[in-house]
Amino acid sequence: MKNILSVIFALAVGAASTPNIEPAGAAIRSTKTCGDPTLAVPYYWMYASSVGRHFYSRDVAIVSDTLRNSAWALEGVAAFVFATQEASTIPFYRLANTGTGDNMFTSNTTEIAVQKQNGYTLQPQETQVYVYPTQIYGSVPFYQLSHLALNYHFYTASQTQRIEYIRLWGYTDQGIAGYVLAPELTECT
Ligand SMILES: *[C@@H]1O[C@H](CO)[C@@H](O)[C@H](O)[C@H]1NC(C)=O
Repeated sequence: MKNILSVIFALAVGAASTPNIEPAGAAIRSTKTCGDPTLAVPYYWMYASSVGRHFYSRDVAIVSDTLRNSAWALEGVAAFVFATQEASTIPFYRLANTGTGDNMFTSNTTEIAVQKQNGYTLQPQETQVYVYPTQIYGSVPFYQLSHLALNYHFYTASQTQRIEYIRLWGYTDQGIAGYVLAPELTECT
């Protein structure tokens, strides 16, 4: 029965093209490919200009709650990230400091322990996203910057914006927080 089905399948897809018919989908995505970019979701970037604070979320309910406060405006899509743990991705945890109002994001568990000493608390898992730990599969760096005087964090996938925030807005470069898919989605390879 199995053989008959595969013969029928082979005939249906055109046996002349290839004698080794892969199961449907297998040829498109191997285990060593990226998380499916069609599963990536927008990581929304919000900004409160009166206080200079930035906030990011993929959670549409959190985004709309934040924007209900007129101090906040939607700046756009900072990156594309994953809402569930896709191939090769790791959690990108959110830490919030109610004292300063800052939000920061990291995959580094040592950093989380350090920041807990600084008054940050880990936010619920359902609001976290998943990113790549290294630059693979067409991902781009998600830069972390910090305004040390205000103790605010800023993240961007844009090299231009990163330089602008360092040169003009008093931010300090804090390296790469993780790797994301660019705000303008590209094909993964
Ligand atoms: C993780 O965080 C700790 C504490 O901030 C830091 O010393 C270490 O270099 C970080 N590790 C990576 C891989 O960035």
